[in-house]
Amino acid sequence: MAEHIGIVGAGYVGLTSAACFARLGHRVTCVDTDESKVDELRRGVVSIAEPGLAELVAQGLGDGTLTFTTAQAELHGAGLVFLCLPTPPGEGGRPDLGVLERVVPQLGRLLRPGCVVVTKSTVPVGTAARLPGLLGRGDLPVAANPEFLREGHAVEDFLHPDRVVVGTDPPGSAAAVRVARLYEPAGAPVVTTDSASAELAKYASNAFLAVKLSYVNVLAELCELFGADVREVARTMGLDARIGPEFLAPGPGWGGSCLPKDTSALLHAAEAAGVDFGILRDAVRVNARQRARVVRAVRQAVTGSAASSLAGARIGLLGLAFKAGTGDLRDSPALAVAEDLARAGAELTAHDPAVARVPGTSAVQVVDDPYLVAKDAAALVVLTEWPEFRDLDWARLAASAARPIVVDTRNLLDPVALAAAGVTHIGVGTRRSLTPFE
Ligand code: UGA
Repeated sequence: MAEHIGIVGAGYVGLTSAACFARLGHRVTCVDTDESKVDELRRGVVSIAEPGLAELVAQGLGDGTLTFTTAQAELHGAGLVFLCLPTPPGEGGRPDLGVLERVVPQLGRLLRPGCVVVTKSTVPVGTAARLPGLLGRGDLPVAANPEFLREGHAVEDFLHPDRVVVGTDPPGSAAAVRVARLYEPAGAPVVTTDSASAELAKYASNAFLAVKLSYVNVLAELCELFGADVREVARTMGLDARIGPEFLAPGPGWGGSCLPKDTSALLHAAEAAGVDFGILRDAVRVNARQRARVVRAVRQAVTGSAASSLAGARIGLLGLAFKAGTGDLRDSPALAVAEDLARAGAELTAHDPAVARVPGTSAVQVVDDPYLVAKDAAALVVLTEWPEFRDLDWARLAASAARPIVVDTRNLLDPVALAAAGVTHIGVGTRRSLTPFE
């Protein structure tokens, strides 16, 4: 049954949800306060680089199922309204609910009786239960339906999710059934539960991924010391169906707009509840240590000592985004490493296929030609796993570098091919790797 769905917030989660619900045959009204963004979206201009998103927006605009507006009043006729509002880290890492607390009472004054109000973007446990109070209405059922979208795969993840979770109090209410029905075409398992469980499930999933990644990053360090190869260790672990092969690739640390924010929010929530979530605190600590390990390895590669100054050393960086497939720099481990290298005195030139500049810092000169980063470089550092870095002409890079050495924090490159091109390859968790030989 086609519904009239309201989406509040046309950010990454809101716009993906709006376009995908329209694709599934619903009538969608997407509201945002940013007039220029709404103007652009009405013209089909999508500034978020998500595969398939611009096409779905164009389709929805074309067939009239998707409209964008700044006028909240247009949500009046909606049968369900999804809150896709930002909840950025506030004081001490706790989510800042300022926007939600301002917008929800406004909605309470205009929604028609029976409209289901649903939280979609990540909100602290207990938020759905607070909604009736914030709405000032007892006739609007509420639900928690957190998203699990990965950047770079948002449309695919929305239309083909691993699972859908719908939390209402009591579980399985008429509102839950109505929300769950929207996802029927996906054929994914639906977890129908209470709102607190649904909200916690989102944090628990992201925090678990963070723990898994920190675990493998420590394993990588051990592999270096034991003469083992983390790729073989991870492959063996991943073939165990209970562990699974995903999120077992070591790197310069995990980042992005979600994992750091959500681990920190869950840690705060646990602390406030008097629970010591030590394993999660350690995952965060290990993450900082992994970045430091990369910086030490670069120092070692350039100066022969893991603690020496890099004053005057030219270092070329390949990758700035927090992962491949996106130009997102938010909480990017690549940027954190760059900042530390700059603090140690290095002169940095960087290339990232999706990043034209780094706002707010002059420490990194961004160039659009990957070969320019190698010019006179004392070392190259691969920080983001863009597949195209594999296909670079490494002999050409080696020829223009001052010293043909690459610290590959993603184990992206083939050490044998690099050796043939005259490049020394330093990987992570492999036999020639980050642990400095002093
Ligand atoms: C993450 C979750 O994966 C999504 O399920 C969730 O919906 C989303 O957060 C969110 O809360 O909105 P995303 O931030 O797009 O998605 O990034 P991930 O793909 O999870 O990558 C996170 C970090 O882990 C990146 O820095 C990435 O490079 C790193 N990573 C990932 C590794 O170092 N190794 C791996 O094997 C996998």
